[in-house]
Amino acid sequence: MAAPSISINSAAQVLRPPQDGLPYMRANRAAELRTDAGALSLTGGLIDGFEAAAGAQLQIDAEGCAVIPGFVDCHTHLPFAGWRADEYNLKVTGASYEQIAQAGGGIKSSAIALDQASDDEVIEQAQGLADEMLRHGTTTFETKSGYGMSVEGEMRALALAARLDQSVAQQTASTALLAHALPADYDVDGWMAEVALMAAQVAHERSASALDIYVESVAFDNEQLRKMGELAKQHGFDLRAHVEQFNTNRSVPVALEMGARSVDHLACLDPDDLPALAESECAAVLLPGAEFLGKEEVAPGRELADAGAITVIATDANPGTSPIVSMPLIIGLAVRRYGWTALEALLSATLNPAWLLRCSDVTGSLETGKRADVVILDGPIENIAYRFGHNPVAAVICGGELVHVREDWKEHVSGEL
Ligand code: NIG
Ligand code: FE
Repeated sequence: MAAPSISINSAAQVLRPPQDGLPYMRANRAAELRTDAGALSLTGGLIDGFEAAAGAQLQIDAEGCAVIPGFVDCHTHLPFAGWRADEYNLKVTGASYEQIAQAGGGIKSSAIALDQASDDEVIEQAQGLADEMLRHGTTTFETKSGYGMSVEGEMRALALAARLDQSVAQQTASTALLAHALPADYDVDGWMAEVALMAAQVAHERSASALDIYVESVAFDNEQLRKMGELAKQHGFDLRAHVEQFNTNRSVPVALEMGARSVDHLACLDPDDLPALAESECAAVLLPGAEFLGKEEVAPGRELADAGAITVIATDANPGTSPIVSMPLIIGLAVRRYGWTALEALLSATLNPAWLLRCSDVTGSLETGKRADVVILDGPIENIAYRFGHNPVAAVICGGELVHVREDWKEHVSGEL
């Protein structure tokens, strides 16, 4: 069935880029985003224009509300199995991430949980989380492998991500995090040899568009980052990397040299590496949920924005460091902890992550002809951060379909389908 025609009327703010066709915006231009009052019309799953359409099938009264693009959550670890609340107890009472990992917890315990869960159980949990993400305004998200921890396990994780893609309303993008933690039966070189074989297979099956690696004292180092970069180049993947989360490893210059599309975490970014990152065409992905819950350092979000980086924020949704799926909560944390404006945070949660996932030509901003991925907030955009913990998402349109209307907001929608 074709998507209905929808008219969103009398909004107090409609968030739009300063001009159409920008693939991304450097954060020092965020103040150029427009937030004029207005309307939006949607037809056939696409944005049709910025005027009300009296003849549209659905009429939505958005008086006093902000209309924004759907959030693009470009760093999650879905699909995973189970949770690790017990570890959170250890963490808040003083154990470090490394201590938990070395005691057999952390990534390894989620790998065991994934191994022991059936495909249906994994999909059911991930689908529930995807629904929760939708109700918080996320219309595109990334999936990652990484809890497979064996060749078969990693291939299964990618197959589960492909199945999840088919069973959720959102668009998804798949990343192969082939070097997350070292499986027990391997040394680093042995595992990287398997990674090379897996990368070739994943390229052949097109089951992911990016390769990822976790560089940390308890995981892999810059030499393997370089190797992953070579594999990405060889097979036409984007390179992404978890770097500078708990320690400074000076991984950013290596990632930039290898042409990385993004470097993620950056809580311990060496200040000397900031200018080159800010000038490069590599997204600086900040994960304030993991920083906050893990009592990590605070990434230099203000400095990166001032220096003109392609800033991005994401949930990092995973059972260990960040069991968070709400982008409004992430925006609230980013604004408070990085000292960002609402516009800087919104840019970093919409257009820039869409560029990172190579879909900013179709989503990530409100422009005529783009996919109708639209979120209506119950107040002005500034309230997302200010009313911290409140879910401001009143309605969500994903690919032109009205997929969610909050119970207390139903009277704003009228018309016939
Ligand atoms: O992005 N840092 C490595 N990977 C994840 C955590 C994975 C886990 O603890 O299960 C992260 O924070
Ligand atoms: Fe992560």
